[in-house]
Amino acid sequence: MTAHLIDGNALSQQLRQNVAERARALKNRGITPGLAVVLVGDNPASQVYVRNKVKACQDAGLHSVLEKYEANLSEADLLARVDALNKDPSIHGILVQLPLPDHMDAQKVIEAISPRKDVDGFHIASAGALMTGMPGFWPCTPYGCMKMLESIGYNLRGKHAVVIGRSNIVGKPMALMLLQQHATVTICHSATPDLKTHTLQADVIVAAVGRRNILTADMVKPGAVVLDVGMNRNDEGKLCGDVDFAGVREVASHITPVPGGVGPMTITMLLVNTLEAAEAAAH
Ligand code: GUN
Repeated sequence: MTAHLIDGNALSQQLRQNVAERARALKNRGITPGLAVVLVGDNPASQVYVRNKVKACQDAGLHSVLEKYEANLSEADLLARVDALNKDPSIHGILVQLPLPDHMDAQKVIEAISPRKDVDGFHIASAGALMTGMPGFWPCTPYGCMKMLESIGYNLRGKHAVVIGRSNIVGKPMALMLLQQHATVTICHSATPDLKTHTLQADVIVAAVGRRNILTADMVKPGAVVLDVGMNRNDEGKLCGDVDFAGVREVASHITPVPGGVGPMTITMLLVNTLEAAEAAAH
């Protein structure tokens, strides 16, 4: 059996159309949803990411501003900018691109963002809301993974989900979202002795480690659903995920490709969060 591909580009297009329609409805009420993207320094990957985020906003009819600062910006000056954006009524979402330069305390900067504008879902208040099932912004990448499962009509109740990776941005919030949908969840990580023992029992596997071929066909139960969050380069310099795609697609029932899988969904959920921040502010 060759797995069905879950097409992140096609699903994104659908969801972004819905964002664009709702943005138009808000504009008719005199409110244009606005996202501020703050980039400090000249990390080349970050520059590509923020450019893509700003362009996606424009394409969906959202207002976006990109604030770029030199790497030597002081933490106090960055905190002052975040404070000004918190108070700016034309801005509904604030995203400070990570990583920040070493002289800054990234968590302190994230905590300075108003939870109402925390469209990345990285604030402690957002994390706490997710953990307790209260309303709040969900981190975009795991949120996008949930939308991909929803798109294939997958019912997680009673299923066993294995998350590989325990980052604050993907692994931990992913596990909480799966748990909220009544899955039995296992979190594996670099100190897990025998990864395969766990993954072989999984109905759903989310690979979010950042290492090529962490998941191979012999580690996957036939018919499992596999979501690949990885963004790596192979020996030829081509983008690839954490999953041995060619092998695993012959065992899984559904699989996300890289590129064209989870990646576009991350930006899509950022647009959704920004739109919903604006809708909430409009009430
Ligand atoms: N750096 C890598 N991914 C992300 C993300 O999703 N949000 C922010 N703010 N920075 C990142």
